[in-house]
Amino acid sequence: MAYIRLDKYLADAGLGTRSAVKQLVNKGRVTIDGVVCKKSEYKLDSATAVVLVDGRPVSYSEMAYYMLHKPAGVVSATNDRRDKTVIELIDEEKRRDLFPVGRLDKDTEGLLLITNDGALANRLLAPGKHVSKCYFAKIDGCVTDETVRLFAEGVDIGDDKLTAPAVLEILTADKETSEINITITEGRYHQIKRMFEAVGMQVTYLKRLSMGTLTLDPTLACGAFRKLTEDEINKLQNP
Ligand code: URA
Repeated sequence: MAYIRLDKYLADAGLGTRSAVKQLVNKGRVTIDGVVCKKSEYKLDSATAVVLVDGRPVSYSEMAYYMLHKPAGVVSATNDRRDKTVIELIDEEKRRDLFPVGRLDKDTEGLLLITNDGALANRLLAPGKHVSKCYFAKIDGCVTDETVRLFAEGVDIGDDKLTAPAVLEILTADKETSEINITITEGRYHQIKRMFEAVGMQVTYLKRLSMGTLTLDPTLACGAFRKLTEDEINKLQNP
């Protein structure tokens, strides 16, 4: 059994902040198992209780899924002695046993899935699953069709094995700088930076655009987060 305060239950279910849901409760708009409950601190069994707000059932899940538009300067960790973490960007009230699914470098921006669903995280990160990750990058150097060919074949970044084939798309390129999209299916340490270093170029800006079926919401400002939609969760669970 998982007992949880009514106000936390309602806030976790996305009905508003703790103070907003307390007002719903005070006004008698919430019933638990058919009985009006006006006590926000009432503890209910989240596994069995039937909670209605204005007569409509509340859909509550123990699992939490957030899309974060990670800004540069924060680390992809749950706690860190020196740096601000991505978890600290999720409102205190919404925080449970959350962790980021995989890591982006401190200076990388873009899509990061934050959840407490360990099974989903394992599936998305398992090397055998080859989940695609697409990034936009600015490069110090001229990316050419030859670079595209090399990346498609796999490059030596100093590990035991060449990198798995990556799809490189040139968006703009002149003698000195280029802008590209790259899709990789592995998650090696500093992988994209090391791939470009291996061909004599430097990544100067990196942003993740998608991971598997999940795409960064273009309306989500850098540093902001939102809950995943039911559809996004379903697609991640059943790709
Ligand atoms: N590759 C990198 O080099 N850095 C990241 O943050 C992600 C992929």
